[in-house]
Amino acid sequence: ATSKTLRIAVIPGDGIGTEVMPYGLACVKAAAKIYDISLEFEEFDFASCAYYQKHGKMLPDDWKETLSKFDALYFGAVGLPEVVPDHVSLWGSLLQFRREFDQYINLRPCRLMPGVRCPLANRKPGDIDFWIVRENTEGEYSSIGGTMFPGTERETVIQETVMTRIGVDRVLKYAFDLAQSRPKKHLTSATKSNGISITMPYWDSRVEAMSPSYSDVKVDKFHIDILTAHFVQRPQHFDVVVGSNLFGDILSDLGPACTGTIGIAPSGNINPTGKFPSLFEPVHGSAPDIMGKGIANPVGMIWAGQMMLEHFGYKEAAAHMLKSVENVLARGEDSVVTADMGGHGNTKSFGDAVEQEILKGK
Ligand code: NAI
Ligand code: MG
Repeated sequence: ATSKTLRIAVIPGDGIGTEVMPYGLACVKAAAKIYDISLEFEEFDFASCAYYQKHGKMLPDDWKETLSKFDALYFGAVGLPEVVPDHVSLWGSLLQFRREFDQYINLRPCRLMPGVRCPLANRKPGDIDFWIVRENTEGEYSSIGGTMFPGTERETVIQETVMTRIGVDRVLKYAFDLAQSRPKKHLTSATKSNGISITMPYWDSRVEAMSPSYSDVKVDKFHIDILTAHFVQRPQHFDVVVGSNLFGDILSDLGPACTGTIGIAPSGNINPTGKFPSLFEPVHGSAPDIMGKGIANPVGMIWAGQMMLEHFGYKEAAAHMLKSVENVLARGEDSVVTADMGGHGNTKSFGDAVEQEILKGK
């Protein structure tokens, strides 16, 4: 952990993003207090549809300069489709951050928490605990391609997968490092070299090339189709799973879905070099169907804050935060937890309970 002050830009966004953010902040601040971590927060109203309505754009022109000064972005959710079309709000904000700040890692925990009804049969907390590392900048999601002869019989569309050695190696290095830092030291690579016969064998060859530098890390690989089946049938096998942009996208929805509600899942969009800030957010969106009611589950936002502390090396504080969330979930008090977890509590009761649990101390 660094002893310098960590500067965090707070961007609540839209809908329930603005409702869960105060509790995320309260919990991060509580952990910082207990562990004596120096944090500095500045809140911004852009990257929201309200900002768009006022200014005709999602972000101010100097957003990159403004946000570059921060170590991390703590982000709620963006989007109000009734007000601004989703492609405008998302592309005009969150996707700009990911791209311009070269956040080439998308990181999601896949962890079965106590008190969460697991959609998979006979699984208990501890059985499922792994990370999904997704390449976040290239691969299948490329702008190389085009359309020819549109509207005719010869109508032709092509979109190329782009894998660069830099792009592949940096995501693999991150995944190997993460695997090496964990007790199981086990990395699984998602491939499809039997069908996608150029880029996927290349991906596999880079895994093989890097593997000797991590002799203590056990490596295996599965084709993406059977890998999805294994996620469901033997999730206990996994420790760190790395995939290309498309495969990672699919796995990073499937994995957390195997461990419960969307209201609790967090995600990191990380630039490990530190050249630009990384972004930590709940997986869920702005949930217009429940906004304004104060009933959104705050755990995704809180857990995203936990990932942020972990990313910056505050391991003990992060572990304490995660344990505190787990303790509150395990108690599962009906008056505390929100409706998506079967309770009658609200954002405040749930968020306050986690904050109080953190403040109980080490
Ligand atoms: P959503 O995640 O906002 O909601 C999906 C369903 O899950 C809804 O029924 C909602 O009520 C429920 N839900 C989500 N978070 C919850 C929480 N914390 N507690 C309890 N229930 C929760 O996804 P949806 O409806 O597809 O998108 C709504 C808006 O959010 C759109 O504008 C979309 O573009 C945007 N969005 C933004 C994301 C982001 O900022 N990273 C991610 C996903 C969607
Ligand atoms: Mg997705």
